[in-house]
Amino acid sequence: MYAAFRSIGAYVPERILTNADLEKMVDTSDEWIYKRTGIKERHIAAEGEHTSDLGVKAAELAIERSGLDKSEIDMVVCATISPDYFTMPSTATLISTKLGLPPVTAFDISAACTGFIYILSIAKAFIESGMKKNVLIIGAEKLSAITDYTDRGTCILFGDGAGAAVISATENKDEAIVEVHTAADGTYADLLMTPNGGTGSVHDSLDAESSFMQMKGNETFKVAVRTLTKDVKDILAETKIEADSIEHFIPHQANYRIIKAVGDALKMREDQVVVTVEKYGNTSGASIPMAMNDLYEAGGLKKGEMMLLDAFGGGLTWGSALVPFSPK
Ligand code: UT7
Repeated sequence: MYAAFRSIGAYVPERILTNADLEKMVDTSDEWIYKRTGIKERHIAAEGEHTSDLGVKAAELAIERSGLDKSEIDMVVCATISPDYFTMPSTATLISTKLGLPPVTAFDISAACTGFIYILSIAKAFIESGMKKNVLIIGAEKLSAITDYTDRGTCILFGDGAGAAVISATENKDEAIVEVHTAADGTYADLLMTPNGGTGSVHDSLDAESSFMQMKGNETFKVAVRTLTKDVKDILAETKIEADSIEHFIPHQANYRIIKAVGDALKMREDQVVVTVEKYGNTSGASIPMAMNDLYEAGGLKKGEMMLLDAFGGGLTWGSALVPFSPK
């Protein structure tokens, strides 16, 4: 049995936080933010709108587009670093119940910005082993809840949103996800972390405010470019697929300069590279499926086209994937 990428959906909350808005909050400028990151605006969830609510809206679209009935979904996996609740219940469980699914397997994973590639590999493994047939994967983030809006080094980057996909069993090898790479290295844990709020915390508190993200941006940037370039070159060499033959390179949307550096190292043409960071900022585990959804809704993603995904994030974690788009 193989795993096929059947459908994509995404959702962004209504409220927009522009660079001009941020100019009023911290010592920054639209010019600096755009030049250093490529970001113009990001979406922010409403009060009372939780990560699971964003995930449900993205998932509804993905299920509808898969042509499946909700009752056919037999597992839900959510990648998030901003869950509705810090320990339990999992956001996947809440999404599953809000969607009205039967009581299927549901759990979250924590791999920060690489989350979507991790859940893709989990779906692939469960399907190839024969344990599950139709897996709903969701990257959902309300990063505004863990962002320090007094820290200009991070608050200009992050936004909220969700993306979801349905991965299904197929006997047709042409439809199959080709390869997924995932990796992690805790040596670099301090580059990007929420140092407080857990059992390793220096503060004895679990409130949201104590769990703001902290990042050594410039160091993270350099490791990201180096690691991503190597990982993507490795996956292409292993699978003997030429960069030139990939229809869509859909990288994690952290910073346009990282996307450009990796794209250039791979000699990608501009028309191959999907860039949405300008509109949404960095939405961590949601950024790849959100970018993919934009491409799909613009009519740019067709059956059989090959997607190359890559991501890098806190942990540090990173990964890449070669995935043909295989709607029914
Ligand atoms: O998604 C997961 C992984 N995350 C990433 O991949 C993010 C990687 N990092 C980045 O995207 C970039 O490092 C940033 C956008 C966060 C920062 O850009 P940079 O080019 O690395 O800037 P920098 O940190 O080296 O700072 C350069 C200068 C500093 O001032 P001095 O020391 O040169 O006077 C900063 O204080 O820019 C200053 N600065 C700002 N100025 C205006 C930092 N943030 C801001 C800001 N507005 N928002």
